[in-house]
Amino acid sequence: MNDARQEATVSLDPAFEVAPVNRRVFGSFVEHMGRCVYGGIYDPGHPHADERGLRADVLELVRELGVSVVRYPGGNFVSSYRWEDGIGPLAERPRRLNLAWRCLETNAFGLGEFMDWAAEADIEPMMTVNLGTRGVAEACDMLEYCNHPGGTHLSDLRRKHGAADPYDIKLWCLGNEMDGPWQVGQKTPHEYGRIAAETAKAMRIIDPSIELVAAGSSNSGMATFGQWEATLLENAYDQVDYVSLHHYFDPDTTDADSFLASGVVMDRFISDVVSTCDAIGAKLRRTKRIGLSFDEWNVWYQSRFTEPGDREWIDSPALIEDDYSVTDAVVVGDLLLTLLRHADRVAIANQAQLVNVIAPIRTAGDGPAWRQTVFHPFALTARLARGVVLRTEPRGPRHDTDAHGEVPALSTVATRDPETGACVLFAVNRSRQPLDLSVDARALGDTTLAEHIVLADSDASATNSAAEPERVRPRTITPSGVDGGRCAVRLPAVSWNALRFNPR
Ligand code: AHR
Repeated sequence: MNDARQEATVSLDPAFEVAPVNRRVFGSFVEHMGRCVYGGIYDPGHPHADERGLRADVLELVRELGVSVVRYPGGNFVSSYRWEDGIGPLAERPRRLNLAWRCLETNAFGLGEFMDWAAEADIEPMMTVNLGTRGVAEACDMLEYCNHPGGTHLSDLRRKHGAADPYDIKLWCLGNEMDGPWQVGQKTPHEYGRIAAETAKAMRIIDPSIELVAAGSSNSGMATFGQWEATLLENAYDQVDYVSLHHYFDPDTTDADSFLASGVVMDRFISDVVSTCDAIGAKLRRTKRIGLSFDEWNVWYQSRFTEPGDREWIDSPALIEDDYSVTDAVVVGDLLLTLLRHADRVAIANQAQLVNVIAPIRTAGDGPAWRQTVFHPFALTARLARGVVLRTEPRGPRHDTDAHGEVPALSTVATRDPETGACVLFAVNRSRQPLDLSVDARALGDTTLAEHIVLADSDASATNSAAEPERVRPRTITPSGVDGGRCAVRLPAVSWNALRFNPR
């Protein structure tokens, strides 16, 4: 690293609208995996648990995080899950093998508990049905239990279980990562396209108001990527609303500059899936456009994960409880900016997962809950991004990376609230040198730079922990003035930034 001066420019213009900010991009994911549910959101023995076993301190952090929608109950878990194991009297619920993570599932937490938790957390539920070991009938049963008002066996069962009104769950995922060899019940593209179409068709008969997400590729490196989406949509274009994308970014598998440029990979992945969707739409002569649901994304030190092998069958073993650094938080912030830049097509996005398992929130068994570094850019973006996404065209230095070639050092996106005229410029400095950014805000009219929030640290490897939960947190820099519609700010090396412009 050297201290050579680097300069960049960007303009803000309310005319450059991409699409409204979709609140559903601030989604998250709760899977029956590790300590996400048991010991995470639900822990009846914990001092902070309420009478239903829901951890109140975790709920408070979930609300602070600003999560809008939560996908449940998996993930790989769902592909061998029987949803009805998790309803009705606790004492009658079966203990089962969790095949995805080779551990035991008590079923103490299920559909009803999740819906109670969702109401407390003020989030929209996004349910996944099992298309691994199960099919059309069980997906229909689950939907009937959840959304049918009453007068049938399953809807009356829900009422008997205490939910008089239908849950009215709108978002449904048709299976999970069905292309993956690790998935119980893996499918070929054709097999999946057919079962997705038939399940969707039947589910819509029960409730025409639902929105359906077909499972796309598990990541852009899958051998079948592209072909999977094309075949799926040739079979199910008319039946589904969204195609899912999943991608995890592993800091251990690339050099630091390549990892810091993870947003470039996500950006290309999104563009490629949009192209495939539109190509099939054109081939089928459809005007309907398929939306994108990026329903698993995050930083994950995946190469450190060891498969369960023949581990003993135990309850909720701690799995992939990665500690996140400042660099990881900057990458997470950049990934969110990338999702916002594609607001015209990415309608839903879920950071995976919410608590303990590669998560912004961590808990200690009998102890506290705390915010990981990655909590901060998520919470701030969810809070500050309002109104409409504005396209920005930053100009600045580029640098070489081993994995992705030359990449821009600066990543930006802006949002503007048409009601108040308030505008926020989000900027990530991916380089390991500070960047002097000159912002041309003349098109915003008479404006002031109200606040410059930064997440950066002289030690980019710093983390938060139970002992030091506030070691890494955002800080506010006293902003420079806006002169003649322009202002200058310094973006620290490896930093996530939010610049709030208010009308004067
Ligand atoms: O989030 C962890 C796992 O990653 C999910 O269960 C699966 O869908 C993905 O492979």
